[in-house]
Amino acid sequence: MKKIPILIDTDPGVDDFFCISIGCAFKELFDLRAITTIGGNNSTDVTTQNALDILKLLDREDVPVARGAGRFLTRTFGDPVAKFHGLNGLGNVEIAHSDRDIDRHKAWDKIYEEARIWNGELVVVTVGPETNLAMAFIKYPMLSRLLKKIVVMGGTLTTGNVSEYAEANIWNDAEAAKIVFESGVPIDMVGLNVTRKAPLKRSVFDGLENINEDVKDVMLKLIEFRNEESMHDAIAISSLVRNDIIVWKDAYTHIIDGEVEKRGMSVAEYDQRPNSRVAVDINIENYYKVIREMITRF
Ligand code: RIB
Ligand code: CA
Repeated sequence: MKKIPILIDTDPGVDDFFCISIGCAFKELFDLRAITTIGGNNSTDVTTQNALDILKLLDREDVPVARGAGRFLTRTFGDPVAKFHGLNGLGNVEIAHSDRDIDRHKAWDKIYEEARIWNGELVVVTVGPETNLAMAFIKYPMLSRLLKKIVVMGGTLTTGNVSEYAEANIWNDAEAAKIVFESGVPIDMVGLNVTRKAPLKRSVFDGLENINEDVKDVMLKLIEFRNEESMHDAIAISSLVRNDIIVWKDAYTHIIDGEVEKRGMSVAEYDQRPNSRVAVDINIENYYKVIREMITRF
């Protein structure tokens, strides 16, 4: 089977950890070309080091890490989101430090480079604020013709987690998200309205044998840190592993940006020419199968 070339744009991040793990584990399915980093959950320095450390733990130091922006398009970063990601971005769980160098490209150049090499085949999975992708579209207008799809963990069709209207990744850099959704590249939007339905419980790991205990131990600590709530970013990438996890609906989705009450709102309209598929439901059991399969591979 032909592998899918993917690039994960991320702000690791407790749930980002699980997204990266899935991207690393399914080697026969994904050609993981690079991880690009952005701040949000923490500073870009911290999220970049976390990405390097996660890849070391997962024995995937073959995957390059390219550092992204140190601020959002129109705003500076806020404080670390310690409540959801710990002070170190990884739920205060300590993992071994990687001394590996980052890639010589900045994130937006790496995205473009890979898109050019794969000429219409590359899928970008973005699970943090979309600043790097927006920078890439601004710098390389032809990028929109070179990407196959963008899978977004972000947005919501119901209520948000930053405000009544907005989810964090989109709210943090609504101006960037607007550029991405209007890029012309097909978008799969996996929003909070479905990710909230699928908490990741310790019991999903029950009965698994002959698995890497170090990796399992870190994962269980992260799950505990989050009180068995949803690992949003893992669900977005799982939609590429199995096509029976997410129920999609075609929509024209637009983003409300600017300093307004509804900043970051993702508005899906169903009677216009679609620019996206939005997730409207989830098969939780099939998602758990991906999680179980993933952990057995380390
Ligand atoms: O709203 C959930 C998203 O915000 C996830 O990507 C999480 O990692 C944080 O970045
Ligand atoms: Ca994230």
